Amino acid sequence: MRVIDDWLNKEISQNAMAILQDRYFLKDADGNYIENTWDEVAKRVARHVASAEINFSQDVKEIQKAETIFYKLIRSRIFIPNSPTLFNAGKTIDKQFFNKAIEDMTIDDYKQIFNLRTKHNMLSACFVVPMEDSLASIFDAVKNAALIMKYGGGVGYDFSVLRPKGSSIAGTGGKSSGPVSFMHVFNVAASTIEQGGSRRAAQMAVLRYDHPDVFEFINSKKDNKGNNVLNYFNISINIDNPSTFKRLIENDEELLLKHPDSKIQKKVKARELIDKMAENAWKTGDPGVLFLGRHNEYYAMSEYTPVTATNPCGEEPLPPFGSCNLGSLDISKLVEKIDLGNPTSSTGEEFKEIVYWAVRFLDDVVEANVFPLKEIEEITRRQRFVGLGIMGLADALYKKEIPYNSEDGRKFMAKVTAQLAYYSHLASTGLAKERGNFPDFEKSKYPNGFIPFAMLDDQIDKDIKIWNDKIREHFYGEAKQYKRNVQTNTVAPTGSISNLADTSSGIEPNFLLSYIRYMTNKEGERVPLTYINPVLIEKVGALITDEIKEEIVKKGSIQHIKSIPDDIKKIFVTAVDISPEDHLLAQHVIQSYLDASCSKTINMPNTATIDDVKSMYLKALDLNVKGLTIYRDGSLETQVLTTTSEN
Ligand code: CDP
Repeated sequence: MRVIDDWLNKEISQNAMAILQDRYFLKDADGNYIENTWDEVAKRVARHVASAEINFSQDVKEIQKAETIFYKLIRSRIFIPNSPTLFNAGKTIDKQFFNKAIEDMTIDDYKQIFNLRTKHNMLSACFVVPMEDSLASIFDAVKNAALIMKYGGGVGYDFSVLRPKGSSIAGTGGKSSGPVSFMHVFNVAASTIEQGGSRRAAQMAVLRYDHPDVFEFINSKKDNKGNNVLNYFNISINIDNPSTFKRLIENDEELLLKHPDSKIQKKVKARELIDKMAENAWKTGDPGVLFLGRHNEYYAMSEYTPVTATNPCGEEPLPPFGSCNLGSLDISKLVEKIDLGNPTSSTGEEFKEIVYWAVRFLDDVVEANVFPLKEIEEITRRQRFVGLGIMGLADALYKKEIPYNSEDGRKFMAKVTAQLAYYSHLASTGLAKERGNFPDFEKSKYPNGFIPFAMLDDQIDKDIKIWNDKIREHFYGEAKQYKRNVQTNTVAPTGSISNLADTSSGIEPNFLLSYIRYMTNKEGERVPLTYINPVLIEKVGALITDEIKEEIVKKGSIQHIKSIPDDIKKIFVTAVDISPEDHLLAQHVIQSYLDASCSKTINMPNTATIDDVKSMYLKALDLNVKGLTIYRDGSLETQVLTTTSEN
């Protein structure tokens, strides 16, 4: 794999190194570093995960080969697993196993690593924890979530099961305090847990649009300034069936808010609901919207274990007790050697191989994982969710000189995602032939011929038609017999791992082309590091005088700089240079080929109105998107990335 070899020994940036030191390098009990390089992290993770291969092969050469490829994928930063895998693989297992040269590794060594795993080796980022409508069950969920967050996993909950505020409680004769009051309990619990000892806990609360407390839920974060009210939660309204909801709005009809265990019912205009959602999202970014009915339509097990919520960032819908581990390919590194998305290029074979090994890695993670709860282990092993996604889309587009907000940009996104979906499903089917189907396969929709995503119209582009044909052939052909994983693709935010990879995050445009990040040096002093997008420097470095550099740092964008030619400005767009419609269309084309979902924010300018937000909701009802997250520039006081000066 040529492209991997090219990236194998490239130096990582100061920024990436600082993050590694801060959060990822293992430390001993006294806080001294046990690791000092990315190479050591890659070795530890590759070896730990490859040890799961003993469940399928007793041939040490085969396992060494898998370990070597996993190591190269991670070391080159072309593939990076989700943070919990980086934090916890190999942790607490005797270091001697990880110091050994690969050719000296024996079957017995791999077996020992596998057998030495403990609860500290939890490797997944995404979970959904259910609760029933009883105090005991709610507090069980708090405990279950705490165990997950402790090891770095994020948790989503469906609060719709809780009866609305004011409903009678049979046992006490009292009244229920409703879902929102309990969310505060989860929030406090999360606030006391630093995930994996390394990062802030993250949770998602979901409520159905027709729950009687829906307005209280929508308002629950309205006073949030970014870091105070329910600050360990993202909140999302589940509009289960977008077409029914659209009809209610168009006909200005009422909807009945109800709950099966309560006498409390209210009628409201669907329009009032969407207006309130738009108003609050305009103010603080919350609530988001989820279309869980669409998720279930494309989920092969929805008749048995429908998804009820998503993980905190929304990219992974899951059934109760579901979990998923993620990994992301940096396509900005790949585009240098591989003609991504082109169905007739011979370089596609190299991508196919990379995808195969990435899926095999994630499938091994399901095996190597130590799950925080029995119930989670059971459903995860029965369905074997994995989420292979991409990062570096924006930088890849810069390199290819295609604007993100253009027809060509969208075709590129669609083709790359179609290719990823196709190859990763081929990989999952190939693995099923060697290792067996996911245990629930016969009950799933796959044996009847089932395509787990919407796809775009054949007419859009001849290459898209080729990918669609290949996908149809696969799902109406051998996928009817073989599938190792119920789902294979998810695009995560890659908030940390894209920094480790020195690439743009997930499928998002770059938020800024330049910014100053403050790092703490060895002496404990805060030092400013000026970051300028490396592709911009590579492409037009000669144009960038010190004066222009200063301008870019100040504004984050190049759109207003007169001396930069228009054709360059068109390519190097940032999230705020792109219209909300173009953000939404990017999400639409990408989501057309994802069996799970993706993390995407529809950035809106500070000047956007509440009606602009509402119009995004209405547009989304007609597209292939599975949810919507809006963010209006500057609407939260604690916005994470800002330029150094006021725009
Ligand atoms: O880049 P990294 O692997 O650290 O994470 P991400 O791609 O930004 O987020 C992926 C998922 O990890 C999120 O959707 C959450 O489920 C989980 N996560 C979390 O639990 N806590 C965080 N502070 C960040 C992410």
